[in-house]
Amino acid sequence: MATPSYDFGYDWRWTHGHLIPFAVFALLLFLSIRLKWRWWIAAVSSGLALWSLCGFLIVWFGLIPNRPLELPTERFLTGGSGKVLDAGAGSGRSTLMVVLARPGATAVALDRFGDGYGIEGNSPERLLANMRAAGVASRVEAKVGDMREMPFAAETFDGAVSAYAIDHLSREGTARALDEVKRVLKPRGEFLLMVINRDRWVATAYPFLHGHGYFGREPARNRWRSLVDTAGFDVVEDGTTPGTLYVLCRKRG
Ligand SMILES: C[S@@+](CC[C@H](N)C(=O)[O-])C[C@H]1O[C@@H](n2cnc3c(N)ncnc32)[C@H](O)[C@@H]1O
Repeated sequence: MATPSYDFGYDWRWTHGHLIPFAVFALLLFLSIRLKWRWWIAAVSSGLALWSLCGFLIVWFGLIPNRPLELPTERFLTGGSGKVLDAGAGSGRSTLMVVLARPGATAVALDRFGDGYGIEGNSPERLLANMRAAGVASRVEAKVGDMREMPFAAETFDGAVSAYAIDHLSREGTARALDEVKRVLKPRGEFLLMVINRDRWVATAYPFLHGHGYFGREPARNRWRSLVDTAGFDVVEDGTTPGTLYVLCRKRG
């Protein structure tokens, strides 16, 4: 089968932005060698050109690839079926992560679908187009709404995921969103939380990135484990993949 053609809409400044400093510093390097400028101009230019090239490759191949996300753990929804919420679904990479890995599952993709968050023209239409490209549109519904006040009845879902979305919220917003995930999950429902992890890949590509749930000096892993625990989840597993911290947990009680 041909590879589906997706459009996840991530802003070029995030996906290709490093190519601008790369071009500038590569040119400076070339000129400084050609015109015999001071040695340190060539040294600094080559360092910054190398950094921007590495940043581009890390982002393109690792952090924001133009393909569906992969489940960071096989322990999510091992039954293979059920109704799953994707909180902050955006253009659908995380929704596809679920429905492609779990062919018996259906998904509801919840998002405010507003501007910002790196996705240009974020809309339910774009998400659904990506679902059609993957041949899974019949199992996915898009819903406009705020994850801090979800438009769903209590105990609607068997499972939930949220990827790189809850970590965009404020402290209060994060707590409210986690409470809402708990409310809409069925008893013992599973929740897979994925957030940006400021590991060496992220720190290299985006040295000035801030926010994303880093409140104070506490390590991110402890912080997120404690937040889901406070919201009423038991942690089943946590771990990292490049650029990502994940916590798999289960609604308590
Ligand atoms: C960086 S995108 C991640 C999208 C997708 N999960 C992915 O991995 O590609 C963050 C998404 O969270 C959504 N979002 C942010 N705050 C939200 C809120 N309060 N309620 C619903 N969605 C929200 C944004 O609209 C955006 O689509």
